[in-house]
Amino acid sequence: MRITLKISLLTTAWMLLTLIIINIIVFILFMKTTVDMEKDTTIQKADDIVKYFQAETDYTPEQINSKLKALLTEHSYIRILQADNQVLYEVTNEKPLAEKIKGKYVDTQESERRGISLAKKEKQVLIVRVPLKEGLNVKGSLEIGKELIGLESRKDILLWILGVSSLLAVILSLLSGRWLANIIMRPITNMIQTMEDIERSGIPKKIIIHSETRDELQTLANTFNLMIDRLEENFEKQSQFVSDASHELKTPLTVIKSYANLLRRHGLKDQEMADEAIQAIHTEATRIQKMTETFLDVASLEKEVELEMNLVNLVSLCQSILKQLKHVYKRDIILHFEESPILILADELKIKQVIIILLDNAIKYSNKNIDVFLKKMEGNAIVCVEDHGIGIPQEEIENIFERFYRVDKARSRETGGSGLGLHIANRIVKLHKGEITLKSKEGEGTKVILHLPAGLELL
Ligand SMILES: Nc1ncnc2c1ncn2[C@@H]1O[C@H](COP(=O)(O)OP(=O)(O)OP(=O)(O)O)[C@@H](O)[C@H]1O
Ligand SMILES: [Mg+2]
Repeated sequence: MRITLKISLLTTAWMLLTLIIINIIVFILFMKTTVDMEKDTTIQKADDIVKYFQAETDYTPEQINSKLKALLTEHSYIRILQADNQVLYEVTNEKPLAEKIKGKYVDTQESERRGISLAKKEKQVLIVRVPLKEGLNVKGSLEIGKELIGLESRKDILLWILGVSSLLAVILSLLSGRWLANIIMRPITNMIQTMEDIERSGIPKKIIIHSETRDELQTLANTFNLMIDRLEENFEKQSQFVSDASHELKTPLTVIKSYANLLRRHGLKDQEMADEAIQAIHTEATRIQKMTETFLDVASLEKEVELEMNLVNLVSLCQSILKQLKHVYKRDIILHFEESPILILADELKIKQVIIILLDNAIKYSNKNIDVFLKKMEGNAIVCVEDHGIGIPQEEIENIFERFYRVDKARSRETGGSGLGLHIANRIVKLHKGEITLKSKEGEGTKVILHLPAGLELL
């Protein structure tokens, strides 16, 4: 069943139930107040009669009869009974009614509503009985019986009004339910259509928001659009990565291919040329190997990465890195620290990778000595790698963490970089909930500062 139909049926059913309850209450209250009003006027009349008889004691039967007759209203009877239920006086203008209802002596006031059948019709009758104790030569009770003539017709009118108004309300409720359901469903239908389009074409597409409703449905549509934005961004990033990566691989592959061609054409006849070709092929192949390793690194860091968190002493970690690098690069790298150990909770291999990336840059883009500072600051550990090299132009600094971004592409080719180092470092530091900042002045040098949360409270 469609949700619009469901909503309109449910609202109508609810409305109908409410109407039925309200109608029953209205009907009961109406009947009760109408009968109560009749009862009050009849009791008032009975009291008047009682007072009349109490005023004097020696009325003749004719006087009594004519008094009762004078007070008689339509379709009613008035009678006076004595203690043994014997009727002393009775006046009526509805004989069948008086015959149907047997007189009853009472010594306290009472009233009743009774349904009787008169002339093959069901009639409602009100009977009021009051004691007649003094003032009359006979002690007895007064009984007034009265057909509730207006009640039936008023009841019919009320039922008719309630019926018609309920029917109207149900029709209105059905229509408004449909209208309401359509209002609610329009954005949802819109969303379903967009999702079906996406599913069919495979192309992310946003939901068109026609008006600002600021409700949950708009929030849903906005969230969906944000999600599509993210997907598009990721989609774009991914294809950009693939094309950048292929572009990066193209140059070394072209070099390899041309040297391989050279070798194919001339074979090993020219020993010098062959040596050069083999050397070049080896260098470029090594470069490709390094590059693919870096690509894999980037790709794996794009996903949710499980870090292997352990207590790491930054001082000893840096010392061991510097020892390794010194052998390879033969450069002066000086480690400065005031206290040891400087402990953080981190993935040691990943932090090591970050420090190597920073040192690798410092080595590549400077000739003088390099300083590494380690310190503790407000629950953070700070690692600062400072070089006195070529520096980075101010306007380039904001792009430096982007994938494949290199300030001087030609020079970077010489240095063999692929522009992924800082991107990887930034991603790893972010995974550690840390921060990486870079200060640089062209021609003077660069300072890269890592803020790593100690995270010791997690232990
Ligand atoms: N210490 C530095 N001094 C001067 N320029 C730097 C320094 N560090 C980074 N850069 C500039 O930022 C660019 C991006 O650095 P990044 O480490 O991401 O890539 P790369 O060094 O070129 O290549 P890779 O690190 O992937 O081998 C570099 O190409 C370089 O232009
Ligand atoms: Mg680098």
